[in-house]
Amino acid sequence: MKNFENKKVVITGGGSGIGEKIVAELYQEGVKDFAVIGRSKEKLEALKKEFPKAEFELYSGDLAKVEDIKEFAAIVEKKWGTVDILINNAGVVSAGSISSISDDDIIAQTNINVIGLILMTKHMLPLLKKSKEAALINVSSGLALISMPFYAPYAATKAAVKAFSESIRRELKDFPIQVTTLYPTATDTPMMKNSNSGGLHSPEMVAKKLIEGIKNNEIDVILSDLDNVKLNRDNPLEFDKKAAAMFDAFKKRTEKHRSM
Ligand SMILES: NC(=O)c1ccc[n+]([C@@H]2O[C@H](COP(=O)([O-])OP(=O)(O)OC[C@H]3O[C@@H](n4cnc5c(N)ncnc54)[C@H](OP(=O)(O)O)[C@@H]3O)[C@@H](O)[C@H]2O)c1
Repeated sequence: MKNFENKKVVITGGGSGIGEKIVAELYQEGVKDFAVIGRSKEKLEALKKEFPKAEFELYSGDLAKVEDIKEFAAIVEKKWGTVDILINNAGVVSAGSISSISDDDIIAQTNINVIGLILMTKHMLPLLKKSKEAALINVSSGLALISMPFYAPYAATKAAVKAFSESIRRELKDFPIQVTTLYPTATDTPMMKNSNSGGLHSPEMVAKKLIEGIKNNEIDVILSDLDNVKLNRDNPLEFDKKAAAMFDAFKKRTEKHRSM
């Protein structure tokens, strides 16, 4: 997809962080119509105020609830009849040693990051299929490519997003729907507020890389260090040594890392 002008965009979690910056980039590229779902009404209203010249359909709903997803899809269908770009961006994290993460947090991470994303795609797909030129964007994480300690449930959800993207891309081969997966690494957003991580990427940069990637028809936009990704894939036991060297740092930085 080279030109975003007048495309109709659905984005989950567009009210903050990376999602908000993706909205900003797309607005610059000529998108005027956004449908946004998130739980907090305040975040959604603030987004509308930030871009007064854009048209927003704001839906305060929870991706963990299938009724909300279906109602949102029905509202979008009634309003536009079609969708050009679906961006599955919303996500949550609850990190720490596996025994310290509550059962509820493990279930909620899976419901929001995986099941919500899959159901949103399923229910928006009929609308994407009506577009002459569409894109499906799924936000995974660098942790899907290199799973670090103390992120086991979260990394598992993001690896599921990777597999879902790959499968659906192949399934949709006969439709004009480009599928691109974004793999951010530590980025300066509300999600990272309690993480104690340094050297964060800016969400603006991540959003710009995504737009560039979509324009270049890339299937993966990866922010991770590619040498490490390759080492972890080709020689995981060798990468275990690097992970062991970072064990204490990760333990400390993930103790309070939770955005639920
Ligand atoms: N920041 C990083 O370091 C990083 C790294 C790798 C991957 N990622 C991924 O990037 C994506 C965006 O994250 P971010 O860093 O921008 O975090 P963020 O600022 O916390 O944004 C997450 C967004 O998702 C929405 N959301 C969360 N749970 C939801 C639910 N149940 N239903 C509907 N909306 C929900 C939130 O809105 P409400 O709270 O109002 O619902 C919020 O707008 C996520 O998928 C995340 O996993 C982030």
